[in-house]
Amino acid sequence: MEIRIAPLPEERKKPKFTDESQLSFGKLFTDRMLVAEWKAGQGWVDARIEPYAPFVFDPACAVFHYAQEIFEGLKAYKWADGTIALFRPEMNARRFNHSAERICMPEVPEELFLGGIEKLVSLERDWIPASEGTSLYIRPTMIAVEPVLGVKPADHYYFYVILSPVGAYYAAGFNPIKIMVEDHYVRSVPGGTGEAKTGGNYASSLKAGLEAKKKGYDQVLWLDGIQRRYIEEVGAMNMLFAYGKTIVTSPLTGTILNGVTRDSVLKLAASLGYAIEERLIDVNELLADIRAGKVTEAFGSGTAAVVSPVGTFAYKGETYTVGDGGVGPITRQLYDTLTGIQTGRVADSFGWVRKI
Ligand code: COI
Repeated sequence: MEIRIAPLPEERKKPKFTDESQLSFGKLFTDRMLVAEWKAGQGWVDARIEPYAPFVFDPACAVFHYAQEIFEGLKAYKWADGTIALFRPEMNARRFNHSAERICMPEVPEELFLGGIEKLVSLERDWIPASEGTSLYIRPTMIAVEPVLGVKPADHYYFYVILSPVGAYYAAGFNPIKIMVEDHYVRSVPGGTGEAKTGGNYASSLKAGLEAKKKGYDQVLWLDGIQRRYIEEVGAMNMLFAYGKTIVTSPLTGTILNGVTRDSVLKLAASLGYAIEERLIDVNELLADIRAGKVTEAFGSGTAAVVSPVGTFAYKGETYTVGDGGVGPITRQLYDTLTGIQTGRVADSFGWVRKI
């Protein structure tokens, strides 16, 4: 599919960051964006890269009323030798279409998803930061723009991709965060949309997140929506626990996100000699194991969060500190190896890196 490139007039160019160490997450956007439209009876049309600008949409658009929306998150890295690399973008393309299917949206051809991202990132390469812990975050999104108030799949969609130079997701950087296990609200139930990357999942998590923040916690850890007993995910991350040399994580039961970083960390950990267990994790057992010192490390995984150490959990008024509350050696090793592969410092024996 041909992607038209519109000119970027000099006056539309934005001031670039001057200090990479000051980059936070997702507040700054580059000069251009990719846009393509899907229309019933026509399919994908008018793919273009144009100056980044606000959209003007009819207030009746389906996305504004019934949240027919999906998105993805992946990153581009600038290596010391100037190479630009994406990390496993094919997995994001597949997951995007899996989400699209669940929310009754059209499939985005891989050629448009991957080819469009490569073209856009390549044009915006000067926006990719290069220092430790930074990257260019890529946000593919699809929204329903048919102006109609009837509840039905729309007949018109926008697929667009915006780019944001980023630093660490958490203000704490690579330091242990505090997590509250949610015992009232639920994120997802079997048969629901928990496995899809759709905005509604995040909107419905805000109240619990806000309440946790007021109590001094960074994130909420969701339990399963039926028994409220098994560990699910954090929303911005999947969760992993080290029991000595064994790494335990929740299985992909359809209610949690199939994380690209989760999959990468599990494969990496197995290659480094750790045993992997994907199994249901009973919250009471887990917390007792933390208290007993059997859980030696806890960390989250996500594109934005990378590998993030967790120092403390709170549940029903009690707190549980993992190990000494600091960053454990396995968490550090996995973070260093994963980011090493992403940034070209460690050889990629998995074939994950896609150079542009
Ligand atoms: C990502 O890690 O890319 C995500 O989409 C999570 C989001 C909450 C920042």
